[in-house]
Amino acid sequence: MKVLVTGGAGYIGSHAVRALQRAGHSPVVLDNLVYGHRDIVTSLDVPLVEGQVGDRALLEAVLSGRHPAAMGEPVGAVLHFAAYAYVGESVSDPAKYYRNNLADTLVLLEALVDPAQHRLRADGSSGPMPIVFSSTCATYGVPEQVPITEDHPQRPINPYGSSKAMVEQLLRDFGAAYGLPSVIFRYFNAAGADPDGDLGEDHNPETHLIPLVLDVMAGRRPYLQIFGDDYPTPDGTCIRDYIHVSDLAEAHVLGLGRLLNQPGSHEPLVYNLGNGTGYSVQQVIEAAKAVTGHGLLAHVAPRRAGDPPQLVAGAEKARRELGWLPRYPQLEVILEHSWAWHRRRHGVA
Ligand SMILES: NC(=O)c1ccc[n+]([C@@H]2O[C@H](COP(=O)([O-])OP(=O)(O)OC[C@H]3O[C@@H](n4cnc5c(N)ncnc54)[C@H](O)[C@@H]3O)[C@@H](O)[C@H]2O)c1
Repeated sequence: MKVLVTGGAGYIGSHAVRALQRAGHSPVVLDNLVYGHRDIVTSLDVPLVEGQVGDRALLEAVLSGRHPAAMGEPVGAVLHFAAYAYVGESVSDPAKYYRNNLADTLVLLEALVDPAQHRLRADGSSGPMPIVFSSTCATYGVPEQVPITEDHPQRPINPYGSSKAMVEQLLRDFGAAYGLPSVIFRYFNAAGADPDGDLGEDHNPETHLIPLVLDVMAGRRPYLQIFGDDYPTPDGTCIRDYIHVSDLAEAHVLGLGRLLNQPGSHEPLVYNLGNGTGYSVQQVIEAAKAVTGHGLLAHVAPRRAGDPPQLVAGAEKARRELGWLPRYPQLEVILEHSWAWHRRRHGVA
């Protein structure tokens, strides 16, 4: 099936493209390349439509198969990764986040529910094609308890998290009113790299802990900043749930399969994606030292506003309902794959 992957030139989207290819689908990528990488899409050997998710005419051309990149075959489903995801920037420039993450997604959803884009479903009925949406644990805000299950209240504490929670609301409303089928995945901390070594994380600017640690170890940054060492955790540093990006990608194939094989329910299916195990910043640093054999200079900086002490997923639901079984739950393996990619991408000896 032809699957539109928005944000497919980015970190998680590019791994999903590979997982879709392995599952026998034909992905087509739509990405504005603001943060994505053309060379990654080229290496995946999939068509790239360079443009904005909020461009309705472009979307219609791609969805209907009229766009040259779609090669005459209408799209049957959408994986929607495209978003801006810098929490701090979302606080200083919320308009950018609501325009890009919310308004652009509204345009996409309107295109999907347009009767001109309806598709024949497996059960013989016709309706909007399914969409899998990249949401985030940031929609929960400061958790009342960990592990965080899907029914935990959603009280985002920054515009990035709010923009994602609002799209979740759109999906609920569009499901009820127009029969739009959707899966909402709330990722915890995406990490790692494709085990083959040719895909990985390359954000610019980088804000994620593991690539920052590896940057310091590779001599590409002078030191690491640890934001707060006085949290109520065993070593005082923040605890997060790191989930391998290839495991995230695999969940998307399963979520898509579920939507295609079991049409009928138009309530979004909501799943946390994490390992259910938390590691502190200090533990990540120690594990990275063991994997790379390099040391690291770290300075403790003040806490960042809105960083909860612990974010750990209760992710049983995805295992139970989708049969999702993460293949790389061990932090050491996640770090090994990240390190291999990091060295290759940045030419580190
Ligand atoms: N990385 C994480 O740990 C994490 C955690 C939770 C949720 N998420 C979500 O997962 C998704 C992917 O994250 P990522 O880390 O791969 O980010 P990324 O920046 O690597 O990828 C996003 C891609 O989308 C493109 N893009 C953004 N807005 C667009 C638009 N309006 N039109 C077209 N292209 C657009 C960017 O150029 C980029 O290539 C995002 O929606 C993010 O909010 C990521």
